[in-house]
Amino acid sequence: MKTTILLSLFATFCSALVQRDRRFPDDFLFGTATSAYQIEGGWNVDDKGENIWDRMMHTNPDAITDRSNGDVAADTYNNYKRDVEMMRELGLDAYRFSLSWSRILPNGLANKVSDAGVAFYNNYINEMVKYNITPMATLYHWDLPQKLQDLGGFASPLFPEWFENYAKVAFAQFGDRVKHWITFNEPREICYEGYGHFTKAPILNVTDVGTYYCAKHLVMAHAKAYHAYNDIFKPTQGGVCGITISVNWLGPLTDSEEDFFAAEIRRQAEWGLYAEPIFSEKGGFPQELSKIVARKSAEQGYPTSRMPAFTEEERKYVRGASDFFGVNHYTAFLISANEYKVNWPVPSVFADVDAGLTMLPEWEKAVSVWLRRAPHSIYKALMHLHKKYNGPIFYITENGWSQIPEDGCEDDARIRYYRAALNSVLDCLDAGVDLRGYMAWSLMDNLEWMEGYTERFGLYEVDFASPKKTRTPRKSAFVYKHIISTRTIDPDYEPHTRTMWIDEGH
Ligand SMILES: *[C@@H]1O[C@H](CO)[C@@H](O)[C@H](O)[C@H]1NC(C)=O
Repeated sequence: MKTTILLSLFATFCSALVQRDRRFPDDFLFGTATSAYQIEGGWNVDDKGENIWDRMMHTNPDAITDRSNGDVAADTYNNYKRDVEMMRELGLDAYRFSLSWSRILPNGLANKVSDAGVAFYNNYINEMVKYNITPMATLYHWDLPQKLQDLGGFASPLFPEWFENYAKVAFAQFGDRVKHWITFNEPREICYEGYGHFTKAPILNVTDVGTYYCAKHLVMAHAKAYHAYNDIFKPTQGGVCGITISVNWLGPLTDSEEDFFAAEIRRQAEWGLYAEPIFSEKGGFPQELSKIVARKSAEQGYPTSRMPAFTEEERKYVRGASDFFGVNHYTAFLISANEYKVNWPVPSVFADVDAGLTMLPEWEKAVSVWLRRAPHSIYKALMHLHKKYNGPIFYITENGWSQIPEDGCEDDARIRYYRAALNSVLDCLDAGVDLRGYMAWSLMDNLEWMEGYTERFGLYEVDFASPKKTRTPRKSAFVYKHIISTRTIDPDYEPHTRTMWIDEGH
């Protein structure tokens, strides 16, 4: 025990010495991320259609912590030039944002394209491009047109076709300037939280099959959009198309074989459902989890497994259908075969997994209950994926820290978090992981889904009570700017000014 402590002290000392000299490559893309529903507002301007978040928040306000909604949010619809000015203040290389499906296709289907919706995104993208900021566009960040939800949404086998048609419109309209495409943001949150549970719209809570049906159609939809881009648009536009999956680190609580197995099954249920069909050599849903669900389904009287299968043709079509692996990473959990179990409804995904999870008390807590600063979690997660999937290209497409609104702009906990995270990123680069960029979540405070405006993730504070939704840089914004401009992490850097200005000629 003593030796271990001494060794780890020594390792900490050594890494403190080398950290100052470690540099991010010049072509590493530093950015921030946001999503349409969380910032845009303008929920019913021009001919924009209703989406599932508009519907849920208007009809079920009690489900939202502060009974708020995204009708106005940070009003990026009217403030997009200020947003791009903030990107310039930070010196960002890239900006990740999402397109609102129902703003571009008011009916969800591709028979009618909204001129006003397309014009808004053209203006936004052109403003970024004008200042050399690389736009990274997500096609789907949770805001499904309500009409398509009424027709079954992700549970419908027609979903892949609807999504492909929408994707083609977006590639055709914006692909001359957007060279980084992400099909879906966080399939786990779409499928598990929206279909298998009740923590994201459309809060269906179909616990037995919701997650699995959604997973199958989401993965097929991703592959259809990827192939459409690859076959029709890539030859002339020359960009890349990938998917963003939430990958928090999930390791075993103890060294026991049982806990190792429990952690593996939990990983298969959390992100393997979406990553395995696309990035593994074999394709299809994760094998051990498939077997467990098939066995339990039979015991429970279902005529077929609650987890649908891929045909051989589908398996081949999906396998390898991504130019990169986008990772949203925030924290870590420890998985136990026997301890920390909760009573999941039976049947459900996590009853299928049948494991418990916990976090360590010494990990610093954010405001969001699921978020703590867990040491080296980025390194552990990416090394795992790097080995498992034979070294794909990665982008970290989200990573960030929450606070309460009253905490204001002195956000030292966020600074501690970002410095630790970016040191973990440097560890990945040193280890040979092909990681090309890092997007901090978020450029500014925004609507944190069911938590409304009670949890703030912004490098910029937003005053939601002010008519212009005034944005003010937090201390962390200055620290991030310094990291980007110096390409190093200086642990002693203390911002000395509260005013950010744009360098001439940026
Ligand atoms: C979700 O579904 C489960 C299983 O049917 C049920 O026990 C639970 O009460 C539901 N929860 C909500 C909030 O609807």
